[in-house]
Amino acid sequence: MDFKDSIRVIPDFPQPGISFKDITTLLKDGAKYRAAIDELKALVAHLEIDIIAGPEARGFVVGAPLAYALGVGFVPIRKSGKLPYATIEVGYDLEYGKDTLAVHTDAIQPGQKVLIADDLLATGGTIATSVSLVEQLGGQVVGAAFLIELTALAGRNKLSDIEVVTLLTYED
Ligand code: PRP
Ligand code: MG
Repeated sequence: MDFKDSIRVIPDFPQPGISFKDITTLLKDGAKYRAAIDELKALVAHLEIDIIAGPEARGFVVGAPLAYALGVGFVPIRKSGKLPYATIEVGYDLEYGKDTLAVHTDAIQPGQKVLIADDLLATGGTIATSVSLVEQLGGQVVGAAFLIELTALAGRNKLSDIEVVTLLTYED
């Protein structure tokens, strides 16, 4: 299936020079959304996965349905100040800006095999931060799954020890 047809590219959003990949046009198409999640499920079928973790906000719309499809749990990685129980936090740089991600201290048990899921791999900062949080809890990151990879930003290089699967690639 050609998922690129369903991604809307917005030039110069949220700032000049950024070519924003808008997945809302995919998400609102039930058949395409389901097919995209099913295809990601097939791409990770060879991995042993105990639980999926996904960073707020767009990581939820990929990670949660993938967790449902695989019959495993889902761990929300959230921006600072959103989670109600004890957390660990890590700060990171974004393609545009800075932020902090947090996870509950009891979200992952030591030794659990974790797949990290998000909509988009750009610089890799978000996912590298998510990997750090999972590993601080003793989780073993077995892979990272994305709808879209922006290859020119070389985020994959930040994840050299982890299997990375993506449905679609754009240069930037
Ligand atoms: C976007 C996107 C990825 C991240 C990719 O999230 O959803 O999570 O940037 O960029 P990176 O590889 O350079 O880290 P954003 O922080 O804009 O927030 P959102 O998901 O809440 O919209
Ligand atoms: Mg995001």
